[in-house]
Amino acid sequence: MTEHKLKTSIAILGCGDVGSTLAYTLILNPICTEVILVDPKKELLEAQVRDLGDATYRGNTGTKVRAGNHKDAGQADIIVITAGAKQKPGESRLSLLSRNLHILSSIFTAMQPISLHAILLLVANPVDILTYFARKLSGLPEAQVLGTGTSLDSARLRGILAQKAEVAPQSIDAYVLGEHGDSQFIAWSSITIGTSPLALALPAKLTAEFKANIAAHTRGAASAIIAAKGCTAYGIGQIAASICKYILFDSRSVRPLSFYQPELGCCLSMPAVIGRKGIVRAMPVELDATEKAELETCAKGLRAVIEGAQKELAADEVLAKALEMDQGS
Ligand SMILES: NC(=O)c1ccc[n+]([C@@H]2O[C@H](COP(=O)([O-])OP(=O)(O)OC[C@H]3O[C@@H](n4cnc5c(N)ncnc54)[C@H](O)[C@@H]3O)[C@@H](O)[C@H]2O)c1
Repeated sequence: MTEHKLKTSIAILGCGDVGSTLAYTLILNPICTEVILVDPKKELLEAQVRDLGDATYRGNTGTKVRAGNHKDAGQADIIVITAGAKQKPGESRLSLLSRNLHILSSIFTAMQPISLHAILLLVANPVDILTYFARKLSGLPEAQVLGTGTSLDSARLRGILAQKAEVAPQSIDAYVLGEHGDSQFIAWSSITIGTSPLALALPAKLTAEFKANIAAHTRGAASAIIAAKGCTAYGIGQIAASICKYILFDSRSVRPLSFYQPELGCCLSMPAVIGRKGIVRAMPVELDATEKAELETCAKGLRAVIEGAQKELAADEVLAKALEMDQGS
């Protein structure tokens, strides 16, 4: 049996705020043999490995943390990509695109050959666009490439609804769908508290103003946290760790994840069944007319961004070829 089969490994590319918090969450709730951290900032990488290592010497975690390179990461069971620039206060996720797309492209070149069984989990923003390009750049089957998408937004939605309804968040089933960004929308018509539709559970509160306030809270939560502390890390660390668990345990949980939507021509979040092979299948969701229109608008916006990014990548290739020819002459 090869060493690969004896160990379960999760590689985290980028060990800044999000990557290191995810690693810490994976130590506290162990689900794999080792966590491999990769980051071009050598001093930061060493320091994170030592600091996280210290957290493994007490308690009952079996998970070890080590530094690795991109080639090691390419052989992991799950490859989580948190590498990239983060939002500055007030900056939109989409404005990170150019910087993070170039990082993504260099990561895939450095990781080749990637294990055919690896699941790629995109966290870096803009996550839906990067998930779209990761499918193409990785060469992996479509089902094995997914993004955290609106999982975090949906958790925030659950949290605020739990407060309003005065019930435990676990009793609420509620999804934010579409883009992990400004064009996201809440699938109000499918929310349930226990088995009761929201209209039955909260009849007096469910006004247009209530919905608008909740949507603004869910959409703006990250910006408010980033303005105060420079990043968001704990929420996404927990979400990404749970997704890793669903994959390694083949749990078949239904979560809102970003994956390719053939009929919309982009990656965005819809409910999916998740397991060891990645996206096992899309779980159909019934949307009302308003939600369908919101989904269309969201997809249209994402397709336009993809088109612009494709032009940029093509221009880069032309430039790289011209430079190669120049050096060769
Ligand atoms: N999807 C979500 O819900 C969600 C939530 C929070 C943050 N994010 C995103 O996650 C990303 C990371 O955020 P952060 O706060 O950790 O940023 P950070 O700046 O603290 O860390 C990013 C790390 O990536 C590293 N990196 C750069 N190029 C790399 C490469 N080629 N290979 C490996 N590592 C590389 C950097 O050196 C840096 O240490 C951002 O894009 C942020 O917007 C997403």
